[in-house]
Amino acid sequence: MYAAFRSIGAYVPTKILSNADLERMVDTSDEWIFKRTGIKERHIAAENETTSDMGVEAAKIAIERAGIDKNQIDMVICATISPDYFCMPSTATIIADKLGLQKVMAYDISAACTGFVYALSVAKAFIESGMKKNVLIIGSEKLSAITDYTDRGTCILFGDGAGAAIISATSAQSEAIIDVHTGSDGAYADLLMTPNGGSGSAHDEPNREEAGCFMKMKGNETFKVAVRTLTSDVVAILEENNIASSAIKHFIPHQANYRIIKAVGDALNLEEEQVVLTVEKYGNTSGASIPMAINDIYESGRLQEGDLMLLDAFGGGLTWGSALVPFAGKGK
Ligand code: UT7
Repeated sequence: MYAAFRSIGAYVPTKILSNADLERMVDTSDEWIFKRTGIKERHIAAENETTSDMGVEAAKIAIERAGIDKNQIDMVICATISPDYFCMPSTATIIADKLGLQKVMAYDISAACTGFVYALSVAKAFIESGMKKNVLIIGSEKLSAITDYTDRGTCILFGDGAGAAIISATSAQSEAIIDVHTGSDGAYADLLMTPNGGSGSAHDEPNREEAGCFMKMKGNETFKVAVRTLTSDVVAILEENNIASSAIKHFIPHQANYRIIKAVGDALNLEEEQVVLTVEKYGNTSGASIPMAINDIYESGRLQEGDLMLLDAFGGGLTWGSALVPFAGKGK
């Protein structure tokens, strides 16, 4: 049995936070943000809108496009670093319940911006082992809830949103997800972290900022490790599978920074039309960024059945992952 990437869906909250809005909040400028990151705007969830709410909307679209009955889903995985509740219950169980799926295996993956690729890897393994047949994987983030809007080094980067995919069992080798790479290095844990709230932290701090509940990032050091890791990982997955970069129809990197994406694309000698870019309009949506980008090319009619996608992710942990994935759904 093989695992096929059958469908994609996404949800983008309506409220927009533009660079001009941020100019009024911190000492920054539209020019600096666009030049250093490629971001123009990002979407922000409503106050009462949760990570699971957004995940549900994306999931409904993915289920409909897969052409399956929701009751055929036997596993739900949600990749997120901004769960509805820290610790428990998992956001995946809440999403499953809101979809009317009460008995499936459901749990979250914490791998930051690499979360969707990790989820893909788990779905592939469960399907290939014969244990599951239709796995719903979701990347959903309400990063605005853990962003410090007084820190110009991070608040200009992050946005909210969700993406979801159905990974299904197939006997057709031509539809099979070819390979998924995943890795991590906890020695770099301090580059990107939300310092408090874990078992190693105190509970009695007076306010959220001081309590360390917001994301902290050593941006410049992260940038350099990101370019190095993203490049070496995709070079390795292409070499190991004997696939030339020219055979990639869509290179879909984690959307953290245009300059990082450009550096990796150049290292792989990719043409502009091979590289999928959404960072300008969504910013960095962590675990949701790759499925939201896949959905973008689906919606615009660029993604067609059989197209070979190369996914490439990098995030806090540090974690990284890449995947060679033929699209096994019908194009729009
Ligand atoms: O998604 C997970 C992985 N995340 C990433 O891969 C993100 C990686 N990092 C980045 O994308 C970039 O490092 C940033 C966009 C965060 C920062 O860009 P940079 O080119 O690395 O800038 P920098 O941190 O080296 O800062 C350069 C200057 C500093 O001023 P001085 O010390 O040169 O006077 C900063 O204080 O830019 C200043 N600066 C800003 N200026 C205006 C930092 N943030 C801002 C800002 N507006 N928002």
